[in-house]
Amino acid sequence: MNGTTGGTTRAFYPGSFDPIHLGHVDVVEQAHELFGDVVVGVLFNFAKDTAMFPVDQRVDLVRSVTAHLPGVSVEAHSGLAVDAAAAAGADFMVKGLRSGGDFEIEQQMAQTNHSVTGIRTVYVPASPALSFVSSRFVREIAKYGGDVSHLVPPAVADALAAKFAGDAEA
Ligand code: PNS
Repeated sequence: MNGTTGGTTRAFYPGSFDPIHLGHVDVVEQAHELFGDVVVGVLFNFAKDTAMFPVDQRVDLVRSVTAHLPGVSVEAHSGLAVDAAAAAGADFMVKGLRSGGDFEIEQQMAQTNHSVTGIRTVYVPASPALSFVSSRFVREIAKYGGDVSHLVPPAVADALAAKFAGDAEA
């Protein structure tokens, strides 16, 4: 990849962000500290997106909860993460690691991605207080009416509440 972009180094942080949670925000903040210039890539499946939130809403939520970080931008991409990173003009990918299980998965993806385009992946460690948070369990808890306000930013808690408001009344 490029090495640098106009004198700065740009990192690309890909994910589904369905929805973005506090662990993701922590990774964006760490990447911002390291690189300054960070593009968050909301990846979606163009043919069949099975995410809970439509991609436009996921992008809006990521944008709103990272608005305090100058130099962080958000883009939607379908297809391969390496192609999205190239389209974003990124020098590195960033991934968060919560556990050894994450490492196993991310290491294989990092090595595969490097073999495809030469892009390198930088891991940042999840902050211990957030290392158990996952979008999957946030979705599950919210779906059954549980409290997720300690796991997601307020805008996301509101979006989840709006999504499941009808279910609670039923
Ligand atoms: O938020 P997630 O679900 O952990 O993000 C996973 C994601 C979207 C980063 C990963 O599945 C991905 O990179 N998907 C794009 C398709 C791709 O590039 N596949 C090859 C991976 S080596």
